[in-house]
Amino acid sequence: MNDLQPIVDAAQAAFAQAATPADLENAKALFLGKSGRMTELMKGMAALSVDEKKTRGAAINLAKQAIEAALTGARQGLADAELAAQLQAEALDVTLPGRQRGQGGLHPVSLAQERIEAIFGSMGFDVAQGPEIEADWFNFTALNTPEDHPARSMHDTFYVEGGSESGGGASGTAPNLLRTHTSPMQIRYAVQHVKKHRAAAGDSGEGLFSGAMPEIRVIAPGRTYRVDSDATHSPMFHQVEGLWVGENISFKDLKSVYLNFITTFFETDELQLRFRPSYFPFTEPSAEIDIMFESGPLKGRWLEVSGSGQVHPQVIRNMGLDPERYIGFAFGSGIDRLAMLRYGVNDLRLFFDGDIRFLSQFQ
Ligand code: DAH
Repeated sequence: MNDLQPIVDAAQAAFAQAATPADLENAKALFLGKSGRMTELMKGMAALSVDEKKTRGAAINLAKQAIEAALTGARQGLADAELAAQLQAEALDVTLPGRQRGQGGLHPVSLAQERIEAIFGSMGFDVAQGPEIEADWFNFTALNTPEDHPARSMHDTFYVEGGSESGGGASGTAPNLLRTHTSPMQIRYAVQHVKKHRAAAGDSGEGLFSGAMPEIRVIAPGRTYRVDSDATHSPMFHQVEGLWVGENISFKDLKSVYLNFITTFFETDELQLRFRPSYFPFTEPSAEIDIMFESGPLKGRWLEVSGSGQVHPQVIRNMGLDPERYIGFAFGSGIDRLAMLRYGVNDLRLFFDGDIRFLSQFQ
């Protein structure tokens, strides 16, 4: 009899050790299977007498029952453990904060651009968009910057394979490029404007137009590109072009328009504007526009915000207009720079890193 207890102990130990249902079934086979130890014991009874069979059989049955009970217990244990693991894995913590989709909002540069459009809109300026892949003609030549002009060296950019859209006179062989400024929109917009109004006036469309037409008053905001990269320059940046052409538009109009714009943009009258003589091929005379705040964190420093000037007679001609009759001013301002000044951002690259922690501060 006491030869049975070690077998029961061994079975209990084996079942307890089984980590998976498969392990447990293997262990079961060792004891209760067809050639398991208990089955072998039963077979061994054949040689016993009838009396011996009774006592031995009862003892073996008891041991078998103990082993089966251990097996049932082990199965239950494994099932319980599996359930517990599953519950743990699928645990739902109802006290966690809910997951929300972010609200989203406009980029600070877009906010600045919207502001600029609204302010110039209130002064009667149209808003125009133009292509970022631009023909050499519009970007340079029509702006009085022919191929060998030294001013081109300040506009190193990215050239695009493929033919050129020749804009009106220039050779069609120069490659297209990523526009280096929004100034080509001066030509594109003015040419359309002139075409429309000289047709309406019954003009033949030949030569320069010297008839009457409504003034050209437009801003053209958008992306521009140059090979340039540091804390205040990015290979992609934003400009807004301004153009006002009429019969009697002078520098004093540029000053009043720009002063109105800049004081509205920064929501303060406590700033000064100055025109600093400069050079651009497409304006004559040309000036940089600097501003100086009289209060606030930027107080007392002249800050350059724009190029500007009176539109060069050759550019007026390239618009299809007679410079004897038409005159105007133009400016080109950096939108990113205006946004940096308005929001107190000191590194331009922050605008283009896409870091939500930075961007969400403008919502
Ligand atoms: N296009 C010039 C630049 O990117 C800026 C500029 C200067 C624009 C004078 C103008 C202007 O319209 O009149 O450097």
